[in-house]
Amino acid sequence: MAPNPLAPAWLALPADANDLAPGLWPVNAERTEAGELSLGGVSASELVARFGTPLYVVDEADARARAAELREVFETAFARIGAAVHVYYAGKAFLSTDVVRWMLEAGLNIDVCTTGELAVALAGGADPARLGYHGNNKSLAELDEAARLRIGSLVIDSEIEIARAAAAATRHGIVLNVRLRVNSGVHASTHDFLATSHEDQKFGVVLDDAARLVALIRSEKSLRFIGLHCHIGSQIFGADGFAESASRLLAVHAELLAGGPVPELNLGGGFGIAYTSADIPTPIGELATRLAEIVETECSRRGIPVPDVAFEPGRVIIGPAGVTLYEVGTIKPVEISGSTRLYVSVDGGMSDNIRPALYGADFSVRLANRVSPAAPGLVRVAGKHCESGDVVVNAAYLPADVTPGDLAAVPATGAYCWSLANNYNYLGRAPVVAVNGGEARVLVRGETVDDLLARDAGFMHGAGAVSTGSTTDTGGTTR
Ligand SMILES: Cc1ncc(COP(=O)(O)O)c(C=O)c1O
Repeated sequence: MAPNPLAPAWLALPADANDLAPGLWPVNAERTEAGELSLGGVSASELVARFGTPLYVVDEADARARAAELREVFETAFARIGAAVHVYYAGKAFLSTDVVRWMLEAGLNIDVCTTGELAVALAGGADPARLGYHGNNKSLAELDEAARLRIGSLVIDSEIEIARAAAAATRHGIVLNVRLRVNSGVHASTHDFLATSHEDQKFGVVLDDAARLVALIRSEKSLRFIGLHCHIGSQIFGADGFAESASRLLAVHAELLAGGPVPELNLGGGFGIAYTSADIPTPIGELATRLAEIVETECSRRGIPVPDVAFEPGRVIIGPAGVTLYEVGTIKPVEISGSTRLYVSVDGGMSDNIRPALYGADFSVRLANRVSPAAPGLVRVAGKHCESGDVVVNAAYLPADVTPGDLAAVPATGAYCWSLANNYNYLGRAPVVAVNGGEARVLVRGETVDDLLARDAGFMHGAGAVSTGSTTDTGGTTR
């Protein structure tokens, strides 16, 4: 069978459109004897019967193992050059109180960037000393709260913030550890990186300004400068972009040593994962070894001590552990120049996964309720929203007999899907459940129509029940 001419060049025609490609699915995903998808020992049909669709499912053991492995691999690589490593889990990828606990138990710190993320981290039991606070526009109240809590470290993102952070720290009688976020001029995107001297973006300060701003920070008695910070982008493959950025940062880091101690260097996050079989992410071990080498080489070239190193990955830890389950609704063949693409519409879309609409991100899909011997057919999985760009999977092959009522599973949705979820068209945000050892439990309950109406100030409470009467378990209320 020849590939469908409408398929993008990167999409290979699979020998079997039921296979669970290694690296794309959570570690504890498999087909049962009956052909169903099972996640963490729980079958898709059981999950859907209990919790409904759309449904975010997180393989807890997988997420925990990825967190622990990443920390260990980086610690080992950097121990060889005498550097300690501090790993911060980037909470923006996906945060709930359970996830906070998983990350803390794996030995990670947590990176937050709003009052809301901070509240979840604290509610999950995080000691404020293990938190890093980010953000290009932290409010005065947020800075005050960070100082009051004696947050582990704060990332200064602009000149204006220096005096604000200093004032907050003074008010609470503390010395606040701060990093300065700089733009290294290295901008990385998935496969390539671009190195410029200047970046036209809202985050951080230009590298050329770092010495002046660090002097300002050091002039504040209530601030303690601990190092430079740089995040070059997300979903990055290869180590070259990180290596170039580290080298540029260390040149400035070396200059800063003349004015006082610089105990750390924070190289951010951004490690890429597989969303489709065409994505071949760089193994974490390889990244860690390469980055340790570059830090060592650059430090010895400049005759400076190797600093401790910090990282802030999110996606690489939680992304591959997540799968979204949908129910297939309508199916529409569209013929273009003699070839057919099947539009398979599911009961979610850009409200639960906005990444395809926002970034043109690609995803993959498989049938979750069964395997089928039918030949692979090219599909586009669309959502149910009133936007033609409401696409979940732009191009994939599914068995051509895909039919209404089938369950569709989209892998690698653990990061930046629930956290970017929205209520477009008044769809309630879907629940998140963790699966582990054959058990499933709710991490974040789904939103009901009642939840949505509860915020509508004009709604006459008590005027009549609006519950949809669905019997699925959203973790406490009907959906
Ligand atoms: C400053 C910063 N650190 C860390 C991250 C995490 O990136 P990723 O989840 O791709 O590892 C981000 C993501 O946007 C970020 O902005």
